[in-house]
Amino acid sequence: MTRNVRILGICGSLRAGSYNHGLLSALAEEAPAGVTVDLLGDWSGAPNLNVDLLDAGRPPAVVQEIAERVRAADGLVIASPEYCNSIPGALKNLLDWLSFPPPRSCLRFKPVGLVGASIGTGGTARGQTALRNSLLFFDTMLMGRPEVLVASSAVKFDEQGNLKDEEVRALLRRFLADFTEFTSSTLDRGLDPRDREFLFS
Ligand SMILES: Cc1cc2nc3c(=O)[nH]c(=O)nc-3n(C[C@H](O)[C@H](O)[C@H](O)COP(=O)(O)O)c2cc1C
Repeated sequence: MTRNVRILGICGSLRAGSYNHGLLSALAEEAPAGVTVDLLGDWSGAPNLNVDLLDAGRPPAVVQEIAERVRAADGLVIASPEYCNSIPGALKNLLDWLSFPPPRSCLRFKPVGLVGASIGTGGTARGQTALRNSLLFFDTMLMGRPEVLVASSAVKFDEQGNLKDEEVRALLRRFLADFTEFTSSTLDRGLDPRDREFLFS
């Protein structure tokens, strides 16, 4: 069955000119007919997590809005740098916020794919491993392959952060084809995360 698949992209970097933002933009450009990739955009308004900020179990409005965007998407793609061999602290903070209300968070049963770009040779491999481990907590449907590990990003993106490497673009097309199939099969099995009980809706 052919269905339209709506993917939400979250960038783990808040930096202007981020390579990971450029990777998500390229993913949106390479999306085939029937697939849309929307970018979450600037999420830097999410405060540092403090459970004192919960109001009757609800996170602050800015976090609820992000959670609603996640809930409404068919699938999620996270493009993140690796910081100090792990997840950027700000992204981890956002994911921690999205864990509310446990265990029925907006990420439960959500198809998730990971991509990443770094200036080093590892292409975010260690960061993605840490991210995968964190995402297990949410019972996400995590796609394992293909891995998109973009190393040496300084020569693959231009000054504005636009992807100029055709091999990476080809890999993104393969990733999109596989992630679309992965997401569709999750929905076809009746595991539609949008139908799940969710506190903020
Ligand atoms: C605090 C910090 C820690 C970093 N740690 C790593 C690292 O562990 N591995 C790596 O490959 N690059 C590391 N980098 C370099 C990033 O790959 C580089 O800054 C990259 O451009 C970040 O992605 P962005 O362009 O999307 O912001 C680090 C950068 C910062 C600011």
